[in-house]
Amino acid sequence: MDPPARGQPYEILAPDARYVFVSTEEHIKEVDSAPDTVLSLQAASKQMLQPKYTMVGFSWFDRRGTEGVGFVRALRTLLTNNLPEVLPQLRISISTLIDEMHDSHPVVNGVKSSPLLPMVLRLTAITNARAFFGSELCRNEDFMRSAVRFIEETLALAELIRLLPTAIAPMVGRVMAKQLTSQREIYKAMMPIAEERILEKAQKQLGHKVPIHHDCIQWIMETAPRQAPWSAERIVHELMAIWFGSVHVLSTTVSFAMHDLCLHPEYLEPLRNELQSLAYAEFERVGKGLPLMDSFIKESMRMTPVESMSTRRMAIQPFEFSNGTKLEVGDWTCTPLRAMLHDEQHFTDPLQFNGFRFADRDLLANLTNSSFGSHKSQEPSQLTDVNKHWHVWGTGRMACPGRFYAAAVMKMIVGQFILKYDCELVDKDASRWFSWRSFIYPRSKTLVVFRPVSVQSTEKI
Ligand code: HEM
Repeated sequence: MDPPARGQPYEILAPDARYVFVSTEEHIKEVDSAPDTVLSLQAASKQMLQPKYTMVGFSWFDRRGTEGVGFVRALRTLLTNNLPEVLPQLRISISTLIDEMHDSHPVVNGVKSSPLLPMVLRLTAITNARAFFGSELCRNEDFMRSAVRFIEETLALAELIRLLPTAIAPMVGRVMAKQLTSQREIYKAMMPIAEERILEKAQKQLGHKVPIHHDCIQWIMETAPRQAPWSAERIVHELMAIWFGSVHVLSTTVSFAMHDLCLHPEYLEPLRNELQSLAYAEFERVGKGLPLMDSFIKESMRMTPVESMSTRRMAIQPFEFSNGTKLEVGDWTCTPLRAMLHDEQHFTDPLQFNGFRFADRDLLANLTNSSFGSHKSQEPSQLTDVNKHWHVWGTGRMACPGRFYAAAVMKMIVGQFILKYDCELVDKDASRWFSWRSFIYPRSKTLVVFRPVSVQSTEKI
């Protein structure tokens, strides 16, 4: 916690809103218990992403659940349950794509250097496209290019609109939305598929045999309210929002985990040993596990969270905390995520990187014959936990429904790099990220030298 605040709420006046940060368990519970008609995650996300201009006119309701919350079941349950089905296919496509990209990178002064962020972005995009849209769209290279461009264009345009005076923001938004074409390209590619799925659903109801699909297009459609089924346009809008949120934060988080691997190469061997053990088959079978990798990624997220704040809610009605702090309509409340992750009240030696700090110490000793990377006063915990110390996924009933999928995908991508290469930053001292308002973004020019690991050390795979 920021020392002057001493656990009390404090405000920051940003160009577009007043932000009230709360960090005590009591105040965070008050945020979670407030009705959706008073404190709204949807309204905050709408202000942040400006979907009217960035997502082909998408304008979702401020009140959560107005058109159903089926997407939570689609991601939290159906996508998670489908992990054992997709993980083996994802392993093959990730492994092939890493090889292809690495082969294509030039050798300069006898060293092959690879631009990390573009690699990770492509890997995350292909992985998510397969899980979300099925194999047809993810094989469409034009679509994939637009879908990756859509992430950067959304970030840039939404930020621009948020910072403009409200009198001119809509006009500039409309003009810019016409220039940035990726949103319309992916919308156009997804619409016929969503329309076809709706048709298939109708045919199925009439008793016809129709293809079976295991992807988010299908689950989003099937979990929409029965009385008011979603149109193809509504399904595509939802997918665009989920696509943006998932690819952006997954790719940045994986990039920082890779930076940490380069900065702490002593973790490569124990992580590689875990990936070469029976634990790996179990991970693919159930979609979770790999406790050392789980802890390493969690520690990387703790040290370098992509966002400085979490649990964002915009007041759509006035709200008062138990200590008398008030929110007026349009004010935001949130938790100071980065400050809390680096606070001794939550983590001992908070500025020290202990890659296995969250792993069970007995298990760590069994797997590595040492307690290297652990922290003696840290309770074991998991990456996907949501609790008073771990707000990375948000809070309570609104916590990220994609986190089980996200954790598995991060382990898969980082795992494939570890199995193939030792890695090293070309320039350890160069700046690796830049910050913009509350988020930090890895620099796309950060170069990594990936050196293939010897055949001997991978032959157990
Ligand atoms: C490292 C990756 C990710 C992080 C750190 C992350 C973090 C978050 C956070 C902080 C929230 C807000 C929760 C709150 O305010 O209480 C959230 C919400 C959400 N996330 Fe994620 N997320 C990640 C990946 C994903 C993925 C891969 C998906 C989709 C598969 C996803 C789908 C969503 C959705 C749909 C919501 C809105 C939930 C609602 O309105 O109830 N996220 N996420």
